[in-house]
Amino acid sequence: MNEQNATIPRTRLGTDGPEAGVQGLGCMGMSFAYGPTDEAEARATLERALELGVTHYDTAELYGNGANEAFLAPFVAAHRDAIVLATKFGIIADPADPSRRTISNAPDYIRRAVEGSLRRLGVDVIDLYYMHRRDENVPIEETVGTMAELVREGKVTYLGLSEVTGAELRAAHAEHPITAVQSEWSLFSRDVERTAVPAARELGVAFVPYSPLGRGFLTGAFTDAGQELSAGDFRRTMPRFTGENATANAALLEPVRAVAQAHGATLGQIALAWVHQQADRHGLAVVPIPGTRKRSRLEENTAATRLRLTEEELARLDTIADRVSGTRYPSMAATSAGRE
Ligand SMILES: NC(=O)c1ccc[n+]([C@@H]2O[C@H](COP(=O)([O-])OP(=O)(O)OC[C@H]3O[C@@H](n4cnc5c(N)ncnc54)[C@H](OP(=O)(O)O)[C@@H]3O)[C@@H](O)[C@H]2O)c1
Repeated sequence: MNEQNATIPRTRLGTDGPEAGVQGLGCMGMSFAYGPTDEAEARATLERALELGVTHYDTAELYGNGANEAFLAPFVAAHRDAIVLATKFGIIADPADPSRRTISNAPDYIRRAVEGSLRRLGVDVIDLYYMHRRDENVPIEETVGTMAELVREGKVTYLGLSEVTGAELRAAHAEHPITAVQSEWSLFSRDVERTAVPAARELGVAFVPYSPLGRGFLTGAFTDAGQELSAGDFRRTMPRFTGENATANAALLEPVRAVAQAHGATLGQIALAWVHQQADRHGLAVVPIPGTRKRSRLEENTAATRLRLTEEELARLDTIADRVSGTRYPSMAATSAGRE
């Protein structure tokens, strides 16, 4: 098999979870958050991903208010048995103004949400169903209790949680086995290593790092996204992407550039290789879900699974996160770091 068509290795998502390629595909940008999309190229990217052994596809009710799930439906129908399909409930966008959002884990909302996701995705069962954000008005045991009922009813197979602390993960896992935690983890965002990653390792829960490319910043594409991105692009509101923060953060990429040069790789590939190698370093399954709408980038990203960084290179890259300017979100209140 030539390099270009080499498939990626597989791993198990959590002790009792499904098997999947070690890199998944984040589908959010195909309908949401990152500006206009070439739909035909995005569909071709989904197909190319599967050819290369990417079997884990990630979406959410939030992404385009259901539009991303509906967009995925034909692909899902064509490949139902070959893929692990993940979606999420918990962040509700106001249809009149999608920038206005509420977080809910209310049981009656979760029951409505799962029906909506099943319908839009055109499936009888969701493989991996995540709580997207924690609603502190509802005890996590109660939220997972509602999710466990969906498992018993055959609507969902595995459960996941996004942006939870280690303590929340332990409490949830005691109620019903959790298969995966999906939280931001990258060269720029390492707060999950404080409590969530150690708890996941101890409990045999897989980690699914989202935004492993720092929403594209780690590919070296930005110097000031406030100027460089279209009006509808969500990153224009992200603290790390604009003004002085962006300039300072772009300068932090120098060691990534140096390591990339040594490997004949791109900056993005080094960023992804660093995330993949956290599996060995922390002793748990790590299945990052870089998002792309383009086949060429998909090929570049999957090829990163074949890179192997030395201990010295990893250590050099480890020092970047502490120096990043700006928080991951404009408000960190809904993140795990905001509750630790
Ligand atoms: N649980 C949560 O709260 C949460 C939050 C955010 C995201 N997510 C999930 O995680 C997935 C990935 O996160 P993300 O999309 O925010 O960030 P990401 O994967 O870190 O970066 C995506 C951005 O990088 C660009 N990109 C991808 N590959 C590239 C390459 N090889 N070279 C240059 N640019 C490249 C993409 O543009 P193109 O698309 O134009 O290639 C896109 O703008 C999402 O799709 C979503 O499913 C979950």
